[in-house]
Amino acid sequence: MSEKKRTLVTCALPYANGPVHIGHLAGVYVPADIYVRYLRMRGRDVLYVCGSDEHGVPITIKARQQGCSPQDIVDRYNKIIKDSFTGLGINFDIYGRTSSKIHSEVASEFFRKLYDEGKFITRESEQYYDPEAKQFLADRYIVGTCPKCGNEGAYGDQCEKCGSTLSPEELINPRSKLSGAAPIKKKTTHWYLPLQDYEQWLREWILEGHKEWRTNVYGQVKSWLDGGLQPRAVTRDLDWGVPVPVEGAEGKVLYVWFDAPIGYISNTKELLPDSWEQWWKSDDTRLVHFIGKDNIVFHCIVFPAMLKAYGGYILPENVPANEFLNLEGDKISTSRGWAVWAHEYLNDFPGKEDVLRYVLTANAPQTADNDFSWKDFQTRNNSELVAIFGNFVNRAVVLTHKYFGGKVPACGSLLDVDKEVLAEIPALKASMEKNLENYRFREALKDAMGIARAGNKYISDTEPWKTAKEDMERTATILNISLQICADLAVAFEPFTPFAAERLRKMLRVDFEAGFDHRRAGEEGCALHTGRKPAVGVPVLDWELLGRPQILPAGHEIGEPELLFAKIEDDAIDAQMAKLAAIKEEIEARAKAEAARQVAPQKDECTFEDFEKMDIRTATVLEAERVPKTDKLLKLTIDTGIDRRVIVSGIAEYYKPEDMVGKQICILANLKPRVIRGIESHGMILMAKQGDGTMRFITPQEIVSNGAQVG
Ligand code: MF3
Ligand code: ZN
Repeated sequence: MSEKKRTLVTCALPYANGPVHIGHLAGVYVPADIYVRYLRMRGRDVLYVCGSDEHGVPITIKARQQGCSPQDIVDRYNKIIKDSFTGLGINFDIYGRTSSKIHSEVASEFFRKLYDEGKFITRESEQYYDPEAKQFLADRYIVGTCPKCGNEGAYGDQCEKCGSTLSPEELINPRSKLSGAAPIKKKTTHWYLPLQDYEQWLREWILEGHKEWRTNVYGQVKSWLDGGLQPRAVTRDLDWGVPVPVEGAEGKVLYVWFDAPIGYISNTKELLPDSWEQWWKSDDTRLVHFIGKDNIVFHCIVFPAMLKAYGGYILPENVPANEFLNLEGDKISTSRGWAVWAHEYLNDFPGKEDVLRYVLTANAPQTADNDFSWKDFQTRNNSELVAIFGNFVNRAVVLTHKYFGGKVPACGSLLDVDKEVLAEIPALKASMEKNLENYRFREALKDAMGIARAGNKYISDTEPWKTAKEDMERTATILNISLQICADLAVAFEPFTPFAAERLRKMLRVDFEAGFDHRRAGEEGCALHTGRKPAVGVPVLDWELLGRPQILPAGHEIGEPELLFAKIEDDAIDAQMAKLAAIKEEIEARAKAEAARQVAPQKDECTFEDFEKMDIRTATVLEAERVPKTDKLLKLTIDTGIDRRVIVSGIAEYYKPEDMVGKQICILANLKPRVIRGIESHGMILMAKQGDGTMRFITPQEIVSNGAQVG
């Protein structure tokens, strides 16, 4: 980590078209929060910026579906998302919005400068247009039949059924989602950023200059650059977004991926109208973007090229992008509803904000996709947080009250076991620093947990409850050391489990260096921190003290024991599993209904005479039985109006014999008799076969006489 004066940490601006889920948290927001808390503990000047990404086509589609305005949608989700972050202890210095006035101004000015300086090229292209709605159609607004799988509801950019990436041209029978009209092609002009002009520069900056970036990030950048960069459209024909601020651009807005990253800048400007530039234009500032892997190209190629084109801006020192988190072995998906939502978690597990932070860090998808499961969540809570960290602290605090009236006892002479545990902590601290500074949060958490493990083992090995029977001096030393380790934990866990760290500090009656306080928007004083002074006479901790001897002085009075973490019982986990099972059922039902809606294409033409040859009649089922040793066949005895006959039909998968008796059906009466499983079948039952292969028999709407001819 460079020794620059300031660090600007940004988190990907979440789309305000749905709540955030554990995948977002694990990939972006929890790691960023750990990083920011750590830097602040070290007295670094950090600005922590995020906000809602409120433009883009999906938001307009959601609004249309729900019969409200895009503004209604973003207002709703902006609030839900913001509250979720606060609930999890993720406190940005600013959480702005790209629908704000200031953002619109900043983004317009950004575009305008590049425009005036000739940094864009224009291109005319043919785009789909809805002649009835009189609007250009984004790919998502065009539906049609998927050329790969026949799904009739495929979108112009993707078929959600078979997962193929599509272009609107490939759709069979394309229709506009707005009016249902067939889209026509219409010429339109857009502005493009000629990315290829920045290729050489990007190569030097990243491929040569940032070999230390994560391999997944570096690798993606390299493959984009090796593939050759193309001009990228930065405008769209759409009515939701920042209007393109030039003449002759009516009905056009900035492309969401052009305006959203500028949101980092406009949000900074909103918070610090007079000093924002020192965070964006000073070489003494480090910029770090926390994102998920689907955002790599925008943060490593497009946005840097935009900043370079504009001039004067700093570039990211690192972009620690994560891979994806799966849920119970399945890809998390907002559209399918397969997720654990942050706001629901906070509701279902009040007081357990830290547990989610902990589990998502322990399973962070840093180098590969990873999985979240509720079983693992429970185990990590019960056998790590409760059984190791919580248990250790509890024993140390309870025994101090029991034997020493709640005062830190004096440390006597040290035995080897004492020296060993005391030596472990600075080593773990050094490792933690290295890991945190290199964005290896999972490993850093292991180090922090290593301190708790060491403490827990120490107190188990030295058994102060036994030494208390004959050697109070020895007991004093053991508990003194144990309490020092508790104080270490109050520091070490602040980035990971801030709520528990705070509870622990209260329990130990220690305070933090003022610098631990998070900067609050608009507060004056030290540019960094709130300037709060710790209470007089209370030990003050900070990162530097972690692992140092005797950070809690003998005689210091600690508070009452309080459980740091509580066990999570099976019923809480069962409830979550039941919730997921219900979601899965819904997803499957939707998929089934979707499949059932698929229809087979029309058959080749036939003549009336062809049709006339078929003798189709109504009939009633008199008897029905399963054909022995088959799963699919029923033997039906029917009254056809002309005779009584037997038909063997493959409907046993869909109907039980008793379902059929007495039912009126339609049959093809003159089908040549066939022997099926030794039974002669005289005709065929007419069935409607649905897209998913399931069948239903055809029955007249009202009872008609048997033998009535259908035609
Ligand atoms: N909204 C985007 C997403 O969720 C992220 C935007 S990041 C920004 O994938 F840089 F554009 F703001
Ligand atoms: Zn398909």
